[in-house]
Amino acid sequence: MPPSIEIAVLLLGVLALETHRSATALHIQHAFASPNQTNNFAVDPVSRKVYLATVNTVYQLNGTLSIEVEQRTGPVEDNLLCHAPQLPQAPCEHPKSLTDNHNKLLKLDRDQGVVLVCGSVYQGFCELRNIENISEIAVEFPHQGEKTVFPSMLNIAANHPNASTVGLIFKSQGGNTRLLVGATYTGAGTQFFPKEPQQGGPAL
Ligand SMILES: *[C@@H]1O[C@H](CO)[C@@H](O)[C@H](O)[C@H]1NC(C)=O
Ligand SMILES: *[C@@H]1O[C@H](CO)[C@@H](O)[C@H](O)[C@H]1NC(C)=O
Ligand SMILES: *[C@@H]1O[C@H](CO)[C@@H](O)[C@H](O)[C@H]1NC(C)=O
Ligand SMILES: *[C@@H]1O[C@H](CO)[C@@H](O)[C@H](O)[C@H]1NC(C)=O
Repeated sequence: MPPSIEIAVLLLGVLALETHRSATALHIQHAFASPNQTNNFAVDPVSRKVYLATVNTVYQLNGTLSIEVEQRTGPVEDNLLCHAPQLPQAPCEHPKSLTDNHNKLLKLDRDQGVVLVCGSVYQGFCELRNIENISEIAVEFPHQGEKTVFPSMLNIAANHPNASTVGLIFKSQGGNTRLLVGATYTGAGTQFFPKEPQQGGPAL
């Protein structure tokens, strides 16, 4: 059979479809079912690995959707009024409770061999995981010896399940890799600003 264009599509984290140039109908070739709601997915065009982020888990699947690595991301002890625990010297007196981690951003950076994973917990904290094995943290935060860490370095994605976050990774002219993020400002987590309704479209 001659090779043809293959398009892998995940529908609600359940279906992968393949289409052939010669055929008009789509058929399911491989399927992967995740127990929890799917938030995001990304496909590495070279390795053909599929990265799938659901509520409380990220998956690394091979090209035929078998699980290579499964990494839990939640639920975690959190409180909207607390800084991320990764922020040094930021104790929080508010009681924390087990909180679901809705994935907000899942981006691949092939050049640096990392996957960016940001969730709704810890004020929208992001992690850089190893693209070959997403259970491994590629870059610890804060860096060893890093003395100054600002909350704005950690609060990246929206901290609410229903608030939008979009982002892209690009290389600037100087060759530095940058992350551009647009996130709904939720007002959740501060007593000084009113909460905004979440039901509307994304406000960037
Ligand atoms: C799915 O989410 C529930 C909470 O909503 C959590 O208890 C469970 O561990 C999650 N399962 C996976 C596989 O992430
Ligand atoms: C994915 O893993 C399964 C189970 O190990 C294996 O049968 C299959 O050939 C693998 N697919 C690819 C594209 O490597
Ligand atoms: C991924 O890394 C974890 C932790 O280092 C290890 O236990 C696991 O075997 C690795 N999985 C694969 C598929 O390499
Ligand atoms: C998110 O929106 C859905 C649909 O409007 C609603 O049912 C749900 O309660 C909202 N979740 C939160 C945590 O506000």
